[in-house]
Amino acid sequence: MLSVVVLISGSGSNLRALLEAADNPLFPARVVAVGSDVPAEGLAHADQFGVPTFVVNPKAFASREEWADMLLANVQHFEPDLVVLAGFMRILPANFVNALTPNLINMHPSLLPEFPGAHAVRDALAAGATKTGATIHVVDEGVDTGPQLAQRELEILPDETEAELHERIKQIERELIVQTVRAIAELKSTN
Ligand code: GAR
Repeated sequence: MLSVVVLISGSGSNLRALLEAADNPLFPARVVAVGSDVPAEGLAHADQFGVPTFVVNPKAFASREEWADMLLANVQHFEPDLVVLAGFMRILPANFVNALTPNLINMHPSLLPEFPGAHAVRDALAAGATKTGATIHVVDEGVDTGPQLAQRELEILPDETEAELHERIKQIERELIVQTVRAIAELKSTN
């Protein structure tokens, strides 16, 4: 059974998809804790499923590295096999990334390497792109640059707003993250 810590910053709809999938005893992974950098709305999903949560706010630390050390200590307390960044909106410094990668994955609302960064959906619309999508990748020290694990494409509809497009991308992401975590769990169980 693969144990997973999920880190979020926002509404946590992808977290919820994972919690719902893992609620099925046949799913080969369990969410053992959920962490955040802010008192995120999405932490309520973890509460509903009886999963412990933690918040490590960077404002309480003198440097990004000290913050990341404390975040790492909280993550490692739960001894996860995998850490999933599901809408975690802060760039993680090298001390955090190097301690966990390749067992640290991120989801991103674009067809990486196109439109990395915090405003991928807005950037795709502003660039006049006709298609976009979702990517799951291993986290390295760059911003949205690590090796890709899964990607799915989506047509951008005429006159679509950023919110409408982002919601359609998230529908794909929820499926993709559940599939990817399942695939990682199955791979690890045969090794
Ligand atoms: C998702 O679209 C995820 O790809 C994005 O935040 C959203 C979280 O949604 N992450 C990034 O943009 C990271 N660069 P959720 O809180 O509803 O799961």
